[in-house]
Amino acid sequence: MIRQLFRQPDRIARRVFELYADASRADRLHLRVRWATCPVPAIDAEVPTHGRVLEVGCGHGLVAAYMALTCPERSVVGVDIDARKLVIALAAAEHLEPHEASLQFASSHDGAVPAGPWDAIVIVDVLYLIDPDLELALLDACVAELAPGGVLVLKETDVVPRLKHSIAKAQELLATRVVRITAGDALSFTPIAELAEHLTDSGLAVTVRRVDAGYPHPHSMLVAHQR
Ligand SMILES: C[S@@+](CC[C@H](N)C(=O)[O-])C[C@H]1O[C@@H](n2cnc3c(N)ncnc32)[C@H](O)[C@@H]1O
Repeated sequence: MIRQLFRQPDRIARRVFELYADASRADRLHLRVRWATCPVPAIDAEVPTHGRVLEVGCGHGLVAAYMALTCPERSVVGVDIDARKLVIALAAAEHLEPHEASLQFASSHDGAVPAGPWDAIVIVDVLYLIDPDLELALLDACVAELAPGGVLVLKETDVVPRLKHSIAKAQELLATRVVRITAGDALSFTPIAELAEHLTDSGLAVTVRRVDAGYPHPHSMLVAHQR
């Protein structure tokens, strides 16, 4: 289960870490742990290799930076409600070489989804921080901003297997209530199947699969294509 914690960063991840060389030791450590515990390459693989890509709830910008660096023909924009994290993300993006990647960050203090059309919208470990009543509204807002044929890529921790769910829940209680490294209104883990059902009912073609092999958390990936 802890195999991934000792996984070496790949070439792109090493370049991402270079971008954060000026960040505090605590933030750099956070990014290293985030890389080790989140299946970033699996998320990246679901995103089109070119076009306009939005990450909602980008945090420090690790996933957005990884997506921008793997495919320079992607134009990646990350938004978040947390101004402190965005300062770190913006500083990292400034270290990109000209033409190395297209990466921008912006504040979304009211949680609004920036106007599309987006070829892909990516959400990674954000919904559990949002009031359950507002989760589906956020998904609907994302779907409304997708380009025809666009894709919504959602990575959340599921509620099964139960042991992995308990680990994820304990860690997030620590992050939101004790260390306060993560901002959010709520802490609720909606089963991925419920999110998939909602998006299917909205007319999207949805697939869900586990991406938790070797990870301590119950990572689950939902990919929803606009028809
Ligand atoms: C666990 S972090 C994940 C960050 C990033 N997606 C990643 O995978 O590294 C969750 C992020 O969601 C952000 N967030 C919470 N509610 C949000 C909302 N309504 N709109 C946008 N971002 C939100 C938080 O500020 C935080 O940065």
